[in-house]
Amino acid sequence: MIKHDVVIVGSGLAGMRAALETCKGLDVAILTKVYPTRSHSGAAQGGIAASLGSTESDSWEEHMYDTVKGGDFLSDQDAVEEYVKAAPKVIYELEHLGCIFSRTPDGKIAQRHFGGHSKPRACFAADRTGHAILHALHEQILKEGKSVKIYSEWFMHSLITEGNKCKGVVVSDIQTGAVEVIQAKSVIFCTGGYGRVCKITSNAFASTADGVMAAFNAGIPLEDAEFVQFHPSGLYRQGILFSEAARSEGGYLVNGKGERFMEKYAPSRMELAPRDIVSRAEQSEIDEGRGIDGKDYIYLDLRHLGEKKINERLPQIRQLGLDFIGVDCVTDPLPIQPTAHYSMGGIPTNKFGQVIIDDQGTPMEGFFAAGECACVSVHGANRLGTNSLLEAVVFGQRAGKAAFEYTQKASFENINEGQEKARILETFEDIFQRDGTESYNVIRNEMKEVMTSHCGVYRSAKKLEHCIETLKKLQVRYKKGKVTDRGKLFNTELYEIIELGNMLKMAEIIATCALSREESRGGHHRTDFPKRDDDKFLKHTLVYPGKDGLDIKYKPVTLGKHKPVERTY
Ligand code: FUM
Repeated sequence: MIKHDVVIVGSGLAGMRAALETCKGLDVAILTKVYPTRSHSGAAQGGIAASLGSTESDSWEEHMYDTVKGGDFLSDQDAVEEYVKAAPKVIYELEHLGCIFSRTPDGKIAQRHFGGHSKPRACFAADRTGHAILHALHEQILKEGKSVKIYSEWFMHSLITEGNKCKGVVVSDIQTGAVEVIQAKSVIFCTGGYGRVCKITSNAFASTADGVMAAFNAGIPLEDAEFVQFHPSGLYRQGILFSEAARSEGGYLVNGKGERFMEKYAPSRMELAPRDIVSRAEQSEIDEGRGIDGKDYIYLDLRHLGEKKINERLPQIRQLGLDFIGVDCVTDPLPIQPTAHYSMGGIPTNKFGQVIIDDQGTPMEGFFAAGECACVSVHGANRLGTNSLLEAVVFGQRAGKAAFEYTQKASFENINEGQEKARILETFEDIFQRDGTESYNVIRNEMKEVMTSHCGVYRSAKKLEHCIETLKKLQVRYKKGKVTDRGKLFNTELYEIIELGNMLKMAEIIATCALSREESRGGHHRTDFPKRDDDKFLKHTLVYPGKDGLDIKYKPVTLGKHKPVERTY
């Protein structure tokens, strides 16, 4: 059995920041499906929010209000307050750790506007901000040497818990197929989101719900799973992100009639309204026949910005357009559509990063979570752009601190290693013995298709019921799949099948929670319930594994000084 004081699953910003917090004096491991610098945090482009006030006066109070209003008043305001207060310190700390931010002419950290923020608050490194921070943190982890052991290309299968205590994880080495138990005093999940359940997504291939499903399978509820964010500027058909920074730098959104249509939907903020509003506007233009050439995309037009500005501020966007569709945004507009980008919901935590297991806020001992897999909930029903990198760093640090303190006093708990390993080996064997005719690629594509078409920007009971029914049929077909590789070494087919199993369940959870929430709020829009309903639904969803399916409960939102008002821009 492998043993570490702390095991962190996931090596994005939250995971690496948590590791830096715990490794002073403890034996820490990071386990990741990929190599750390390939984590999905690296895909974040436009910035990280903090009220530095580099170019305009700003305050944490304004950052807090924008975040709460942006989240359609579903955010827990105690957590938001601490989070936005921590932001400026976090930026200077990252700078001192080696993150190279873009600068103003007088040498301050440059800041740009982002959707729903009333002030220029996004600190950035051109349009590669996540990449810059990820590499800076990775360098710091390497500097720690032996106190952080990295298991790259290992897969986490399940959480080991007993009663209210977490004791470790069951994992396997993708290269050799060996199944191992890691016994740990503390486990921190920083496993990211699950956008790959959708056909059009900006998420990396690794964002497949493994962490959230391991928690759920251990009996832990998931919070606010229905709230999935659709980013307005995904590359047409492929979903790859074209950062909101493009609109911040002055880019236009244009429909098939050549109109800047945001004038109709958010006249004061135009292209920089919050993402839920811009994505709905785009989808309406498309659905009402005003897409480009009447098709299902619109244009992101940057031509008027000029080559110099594009090269300086948006170099990655230019390169992505050239590499993926051969379009140079200096001379031609980019075809875009809404893309599943971020999961507001996830494993419930308190503001210290401890995982909580019920509506009373009871923490599970020795289990922590941070970043996109967690729901703390600072983003409520809709996250503002640049608030997620901040969340990953702030709550990665906090989860690390809480785990550090807990681990000092904790001891290793007994684990029945044979039994834990046997469960996963049985799963492998069950898959290897499948002798069906169903193609896993077809099942995966059908799941993605129905999630995008029936559980996407616009939802209704009819669409969601069809979606759930389809997913249940796919879950049955999943058991009759055709397996072609029964080998142990680097069996990527096996891992893709396991990931698909996790995604099929997660997709059902999203759609079921969306069906239960009979209102429209933030990223969740019901055409049959188009208004926000604070009387019935100013509450967080908690979904548990039930005896006959999913068991949905609710818990109150922690309000504060900002009372819910109509959300207009
Ligand atoms: O558009 C973007 O650059 C994305 C940023 C974010 O999701 O925070």
